[in-house]
Amino acid sequence: MDATQPTPTDQAVLWNGRAGRAWIDAQATLDRMFAPFEDLLADTVRATSARRVLDVGCGTGGTTLAAARVAGAQGDCLGVDISEPMVAVARKRAAGEGSTARFIAADVQAHAFEAASFDLVISRFGVMFFDDPVAAFANLRRASSTHARLRAIAWRSAAENPYMTAAERAAAPLLPNLPVRAPGAPGQFAFADRHRVASILQESGWGEIDIQPIDVNCTYPEKELVGYFTRLGAVGQVLEDTDEATRRQVTDTLRTAFDPFVHGDEVRFTAACWMIAATATAPPAPASAS
Ligand SMILES: C[S@@+](CC[C@H](N)C(=O)[O-])C[C@H]1O[C@@H](n2cnc3c(N)ncnc32)[C@H](O)[C@@H]1O
Repeated sequence: MDATQPTPTDQAVLWNGRAGRAWIDAQATLDRMFAPFEDLLADTVRATSARRVLDVGCGTGGTTLAAARVAGAQGDCLGVDISEPMVAVARKRAAGEGSTARFIAADVQAHAFEAASFDLVISRFGVMFFDDPVAAFANLRRASSTHARLRAIAWRSAAENPYMTAAERAAAPLLPNLPVRAPGAPGQFAFADRHRVASILQESGWGEIDIQPIDVNCTYPEKELVGYFTRLGAVGQVLEDTDEATRRQVTDTLRTAFDPFVHGDEVRFTAACWMIAATATAPPAPASAS
């Protein structure tokens, strides 16, 4: 490896590899499942009349495209994501619908955004994967104009989200190499502790911090359920390396485990999340020399 290049983090490897591929393959299902969150963020763009919008960890771009639709012709909506393949899909989607949304592949923790260039920073599940969350949110603060708003959606605890943990719980006896979640480590539930999130934002220079629980009803077609749990999350990643017989056994076991969430031809669950709000009140800290 070129010694002048930064070493990719585990998250960069993951999202440029298996996790990124899984989200691309399941993009339509995920966008349907998480449409209510897209609506919440689009409502925020509408309510704040923001035109310069940054979408953090934008993935395949669904929420950036939604923001750009609301911001209209005068809007300048930028999606940023560490995953090159996901950004490539986002750009293709933007071109497909003639959107003005732009996308860059970059690490939010380190990217040199133009200072004070955004009036609103949004994210749907894209802020829990930082190795150094203070560096990331301080960088976002520098990229924000004074009085800019931050509105980010993150998961509450695993215990409050039985649908999101059903696959791991059911598969654990069959897949002994399933990775164990470490509390607070980068990952889906890293922001479960609202006090930790508040102190990260405070340390990063954000003010008027307000973190509220939201319980959001999500639905998608039952026929997409097996494709969802065999691709996504830790189970999806481990299944890639599993023999066909185990794979079949895990799929059958998991399908039964998801029965409580199946209602006729629909999957329904409640997503227990935080709506994280903050304002760029104080002047941003100067960027460090390193
Ligand atoms: C759970 S996905 C959410 C994607 C998208 N926001 C959505 O709702 O469809 C998390 C996203 O965060 C991105 N991500 C993780 N670490 C990042 C970082 N340091 N900088 C930028 N993006 C990052 C991943 O590549 C991934 O696309």
